[in-house]
Amino acid sequence: MRIEVRELSKVFGDFVVLSGLSFEIGDGEFIVVLGPSGCGKTTLLRIIAGLERPTSGTILFDGKDVTHLPPAKRDIGMVFQNYALYPHMTVYENLAFPLRLKKVPKDEIDRRVKEIATLLKIDRHLHKRPRQLSGGQRQRVALGRALIKRPKLFLFDEPLSNLDANLRTEMRAEIGRLHREFKTTSLYVTHDQVEAMSLADRILILNRGRIEQFADPLTVYNEPATAFVASFVGSPPMNLVEGVVEEGKFRSPGGWWVAVDTDYRGKALLGFRPEGAKLREKGIRGSVVHREIFGHESIVYVDIGGGITVSVKHYSLPPSIGENVAIWVDRYYLFDGEGKRLL
Ligand SMILES: Nc1ncnc2c1ncn2[C@@H]1O[C@H](COP(=O)(O)OP(=O)(O)OP(=O)(O)O)[C@@H](O)[C@H]1O
Ligand SMILES: [Mg+2]
Repeated sequence: MRIEVRELSKVFGDFVVLSGLSFEIGDGEFIVVLGPSGCGKTTLLRIIAGLERPTSGTILFDGKDVTHLPPAKRDIGMVFQNYALYPHMTVYENLAFPLRLKKVPKDEIDRRVKEIATLLKIDRHLHKRPRQLSGGQRQRVALGRALIKRPKLFLFDEPLSNLDANLRTEMRAEIGRLHREFKTTSLYVTHDQVEAMSLADRILILNRGRIEQFADPLTVYNEPATAFVASFVGSPPMNLVEGVVEEGKFRSPGGWWVAVDTDYRGKALLGFRPEGAKLREKGIRGSVVHREIFGHESIVYVDIGGGITVSVKHYSLPPSIGENVAIWVDRYYLFDGEGKRLL
């Protein structure tokens, strides 16, 4: 199903949660919505689901205006963070419930419950009640309950946030596999960058109810449209150094400068990724203040003067704390005073 969102706004009292959002999602696309807490992700999903009314704007499914259609008529499967299963029902009954509501014949319900349970590897647990399941199994039942309806659109709101790291990885792969199999248009909210980068066809990055960028994961990583996107995607995030651009030079308060190919003048942010710089003999000088050693790589934190500390990824034995080093930047980015990308 194709989704079009036009000039969508939501205001609670005098608080603007979503501000004139417009975007389109193609049939079968997997869209990850990424953004800080409170930026409006859940509100956006609830409006698309029909659980919340927009203050203004239009939502179209396959070209048809659904802005005022109730949730039950939108053909949506939802998996939210607190995936409330019916505690008194068995797994089988939990899965069958959406189909019973739709008055699907009994033998077809039985066939589809068993099919989905096999797919999600919960077929041995159909007789159990939710409290007798592990977190990951419960999560799978919640997924199954959304899948079994074969909706035209999936809405996921941080569905894996209650799980431990291993289960998250497993369920992430499962969701990816299900999407490749069913190709159902999906909107998936997460805080987790790895989830965003690995699952998304495109990432919608929200900040304070506005779209910062809507692009495929590699574009978001390599060509961030704003300093906000640059600082939000990547781990550790991109280093952003405040300074001033004059006559083709970015000058840092630390005293060093870098030649930049722009006519822009004024306040600016120079950005470089920890993996886009190296410790060399030449470059921005500083001293090591902290190290994180992971085995295959380490992250070296360097004080470069003017109260600024930056991080650099390093792949051999890291320098000691207190050691003087120089940072050679292979690739830098430049943003203007408002955070818009210049270079
Ligand atoms: N019913 C409501 N009444 C008033 N304000 C609300 C209401 N629902 C949400 N908000 C406000 O709207 C903003 C966005 O909330 P929303 O739940 O969409 O954020 P979110 O991006 O999902 O955050 P999180 O990552 O923490 O889940 C918040 O500041 C929140 O306090
Ligand atoms: Mg939320």
